Amino acid sequence: MLTKHREDFQKCIIDWYLLNGRDLPWRRTNNPYHIWICEIILQQTRVDQGLPYYFRFIERFPDIYALSEASEEEVLNYWQGLGYYSRARNILYAARQIVKDYHGKIPANYNDLLKIKGIGKYTAGAVASMAYNLPHPAIDGNVFRVLSRLFNDYTPIDEARSYRYFEQLVLKIFDENRPSLFNQSIIELGALLCLPRNPNCKACPVNKFCIAFKNSSQHLLPVKKQRIHVRNRYFYYFVIHDHDQIILRKRQNEDIWKMMYDFPLIEFDYQLKNPVEELKTAPWPAPLLLHYPSNITLVKHVLTHQVLHICFVRLYIEQLKPLVPESHIIVQIKNLYKYPMPKVIVDFLKKEFDFGR
Ligand code: ADE
Repeated sequence: MLTKHREDFQKCIIDWYLLNGRDLPWRRTNNPYHIWICEIILQQTRVDQGLPYYFRFIERFPDIYALSEASEEEVLNYWQGLGYYSRARNILYAARQIVKDYHGKIPANYNDLLKIKGIGKYTAGAVASMAYNLPHPAIDGNVFRVLSRLFNDYTPIDEARSYRYFEQLVLKIFDENRPSLFNQSIIELGALLCLPRNPNCKACPVNKFCIAFKNSSQHLLPVKKQRIHVRNRYFYYFVIHDHDQIILRKRQNEDIWKMMYDFPLIEFDYQLKNPVEELKTAPWPAPLLLHYPSNITLVKHVLTHQVLHICFVRLYIEQLKPLVPESHIIVQIKNLYKYPMPKVIVDFLKKEFDFGR
């Protein structure tokens, strides 16, 4: 039914989008750089949260060349608070790759786009269609959900083969003549009406084509296979400072928050019942607890695959210099805003210290 009436379907969804779609800045342009940046920001971020980051980013790094010349630290600083920081590192790597291999022009070709760091099938499809009007679908979480329901298809959306499978499905209804409009329309339908819970099927412009609506199975779709395994981690952060300076370190390991700044850290794989006592025998800087009074603050921070149980141990010490190993740095508290840090650290610092961020 749906595939037989594809032109009718396309008209219904695109007409609805033209009347009801949100007026978003990247929809008023076909600048591939702007579209690429917005699609990377929106990969794991809601539109309302991502918008101010998009504007700030584009203003500071107006084109590929400006971005390619930036330092990783500055790009991370502009990303701070958005999470999933590998996106920011990949964007910088990609900008340099585009300058070196493509004369600074984002390729107008799906297969070349896929060669660029951080660009997968979705982003390649989005840039190819929205910037260059090339006939490629772009299937994000919204689109997976819409397609599962339209076709009443119980194929899981989170397996290695899912993208290819749903790509075949969407090609049955895809509008090759208006790829950009079609992709934006189906993303928008997922964002505004075909919601994960309580979809607004009554208002849906394509409900007459939707098999899940006909069968009342919308709430069963889409299907996900994987249950996310969540790892608990126990961080003991030493917030060591004097009246105007504080000790930081740059995270270097292959772990969360790589190349961002935090405090001296001791990690356990279980929770300490009495951290101040139990930490005293741990490595540097924990033995400072033998000599200085401390304050502790407990915070739980939830990431996609990890729950961080964070204990901030705050110590005021007059003489910081002799204490600090080479892997750590001493920073003026008033300059903390210059250092990219994870949101949970910034939130703690804002509460505890007076600094302008
Ligand atoms: N989410 C991902 N890409 C989007 C886009 N181009 N417009 C609105 N929401 C989106």
